[in-house]
Amino acid sequence: MNNRQLFLNHLAQTTDFPLMIEIERAEGIYMYGPDGKRYIDLISGIGVSNVGHRHPQVLNAIQEQLDKYLHLMVYGEYVQSPQVQLAQALCQTLPDTLNNVYLVNSGSEAVEGALKLAKRYTNRREIISCINAYHGSSHGSLSVGGNEVFKRAYRPLLPGISNILYGSYYQLDQITEQTAAVIIETIQGEAGIRVACKQYFQALRKRCDETGTLLILDEIQAGFGRTGKFWAFEHFEIVPDILVCAKGMGGGMPIGAFIANQVVMASFKSNPLLGHITTFGGHPVSSAASLATLKVIQKSNLLEQVETKANLFKELLVHPKIIAIRNKGLMMAIEFESFEVLKPIIDRAIGMGVITDWFLFCDDSMRIAPPLVITEEEIREACAIILQAIG
Ligand SMILES: Cc1ncc(COP(=O)(O)O)c(C=O)c1O
Repeated sequence: MNNRQLFLNHLAQTTDFPLMIEIERAEGIYMYGPDGKRYIDLISGIGVSNVGHRHPQVLNAIQEQLDKYLHLMVYGEYVQSPQVQLAQALCQTLPDTLNNVYLVNSGSEAVEGALKLAKRYTNRREIISCINAYHGSSHGSLSVGGNEVFKRAYRPLLPGISNILYGSYYQLDQITEQTAAVIIETIQGEAGIRVACKQYFQALRKRCDETGTLLILDEIQAGFGRTGKFWAFEHFEIVPDILVCAKGMGGGMPIGAFIANQVVMASFKSNPLLGHITTFGGHPVSSAASLATLKVIQKSNLLEQVETKANLFKELLVHPKIIAIRNKGLMMAIEFESFEVLKPIIDRAIGMGVITDWFLFCDDSMRIAPPLVITEEEIREACAIILQAIG
């Protein structure tokens, strides 16, 4: 049996129509099939490969760590240099109040940790999230998701959750003294790239302060440079109480984190102690890769280039079938009339070697989130292929 048959037989499937693209190796913005076919990756494995596939500095850091140790002990007991260095570097990118990092394995787990922390710190039970939010697929993170289609079959989920409309001022009064936390994506990703304005975020921050509610910002997609700032909340001049990140953070390795103030995080230490437990959280190899990724972003001029590159996409992607383009930096949605119009375009583009995608809760829009290292020449090539696929 070949790999395709084994894939269908032995790997759990979550749809009847998996993409089934087989990749043998990847480098930068390119992925190559076993037949040598080259694909331009315009989605970064869904917001992961921000510094490109197999960035040399990330590979070096992984290699160096491989030669030292792999797993040693469950999270939080031993002093492991890759974790410590990463936590310090993360805090240095953040305002002083965000000075304590809990390293986990994934975005969903980071959301779980953040929700548990908010309940423990505030001693409240209610949580508010947004309509069409995506925070992950575990029970807790699904509970704060904002799409009923994905939630219905798994009820009962967490109690005490209600949804507000992302970007809507008039629903902010639903945040009360009973609310432990508001969890919100700084930029809504799976809703099809929705960007609220600075005034909204400032009003949200104010309402959380008035009610003693913790503000959890989910930057699992938007963090690590995707929007042109290291953290997306920097665009809005607010500071969250808990910041959640993953995806691009690992440079291609699995890792996530929730970050808060030391005082808030200390709630995990007692009654009961060990408030969140993870065996592999902050795996030393992932932590080393993450630190290298962070340094690549900091020491390059990738962040400054994001806006220019996004503008080039917008300049080039002009076609009567493109209705609108929504973006914050290189987190982009290209809107078409319907899924029926878009689907064959995405299929044709893949056939021609450009990988795009749509969104979980927005199937009339094409997802574009390329590695930030993409060059202007590569953007021109990719856009020419997309236009051909539309045509
Ligand atoms: C905004 C956001 N939050 C949370 C998650 C869940 O992350 P993970 O798939 O690593 O569990 C995702 C994943 O797509 C996401 O985009």
